[in-house]
Amino acid sequence: MAENYDRACEVKAFDEMKIGVKGLVDAGITKIPRIFHHPHVAVTNPKPSSTLEIPTIDLGGGVFESTVTRESVIAKVRDAVEKFGFFQVINHGIPLEVMHKMKDGIRGFHEQDSEVKKTFYSRDITKKVKYNTNFDLYSSQAANWRDTLTTVMAPDVPQVEDLPAICREIMLEYSKRMMKLGELIFELLSEALGLKSKHLKELNCAKSLSLLSHYYPPCPEPDRTFGISSHTDISFITILLQDHIGGLQVLHDDYWIDVPPNPEALIVNLGDLLQLITNDKFVSVEHRVLANRGEEPRISSASFFMHTIPNEQVYGPIKELLSEQNLPKYRDTTTTEMARHYLARGLDGTSPLLHFRI
Ligand code: OGA
Ligand code: NI
Repeated sequence: MAENYDRACEVKAFDEMKIGVKGLVDAGITKIPRIFHHPHVAVTNPKPSSTLEIPTIDLGGGVFESTVTRESVIAKVRDAVEKFGFFQVINHGIPLEVMHKMKDGIRGFHEQDSEVKKTFYSRDITKKVKYNTNFDLYSSQAANWRDTLTTVMAPDVPQVEDLPAICREIMLEYSKRMMKLGELIFELLSEALGLKSKHLKELNCAKSLSLLSHYYPPCPEPDRTFGISSHTDISFITILLQDHIGGLQVLHDDYWIDVPPNPEALIVNLGDLLQLITNDKFVSVEHRVLANRGEEPRISSASFFMHTIPNEQVYGPIKELLSEQNLPKYRDTTTTEMARHYLARGLDGTSPLLHFRI
């Protein structure tokens, strides 16, 4: 795919403008710069997928009337993660109003005065509040049509004045609720693994939260690029809030299936850290977002449950899941080592977990 131009130089020039993809759209471009060109953009599905959807699970507000209902939810979770690595939850306890306000807040951040936004622009991986475009801009083969505000919300709750004024209150409120929902989902996942319900929590999987709040501007040439190219998440789990635009797809049996927007639902997917500690019992599944071909921006917020950098807690396959027939497939590592590896390679479509395999 080597195009004959000084890619590194064009990438740097774009980065230094600190305007993100949205800034290019605002400037009125009608063709996307070649740093965004992907060699193969197959947006169409080779197989009619209209009948296939990721499962939707009713969490009943997190209050289960009986052990039987709880057991049936756990069975659904187990089934969904084994088949798809993805599921949606409804009646998850987060009010619709909070979800709306969160989307509005993110949109407000990205659409505010670009001079204010620029003050947050950074690529420092230890920085707890930052905005940039394409976290892997310097390492990926091709850039994506997306800008992101990243905020570390737990275990240390940020000082209110460190968060962008336009969305600080809703981010704090949303995160508080996300932590609670995260805890419930880790309990269900622990039980689905046959472990005691607090097992994953005791491994600190539910302790740390980073919000990746994305803005996918309309793309003038959506067939040449992606909103986010195919990848798995580095997290233990991710809980995604998406708006009404659509474009998210999940890889299932070698086909891309759409995840149509459901205003009431949140999407849960398993990340690479969970795959590593479950020794492949639960796997992280590839997903992507098509470049936005509409007139309006697409907004989403991905709640990544994973430690922030630096963190030295060591993770390897959970001993209780291992046996003579199921020997460890991964060596021990830390979130910090994994994050550095991810950043160095960019989203390139191969599993970054291979690097940690024994
Ligand atoms: C992510 C991701 C999907 C979306 O942030 O890892 O896959 O819809 N986001 O924004
Ligand atoms: Ni993702």
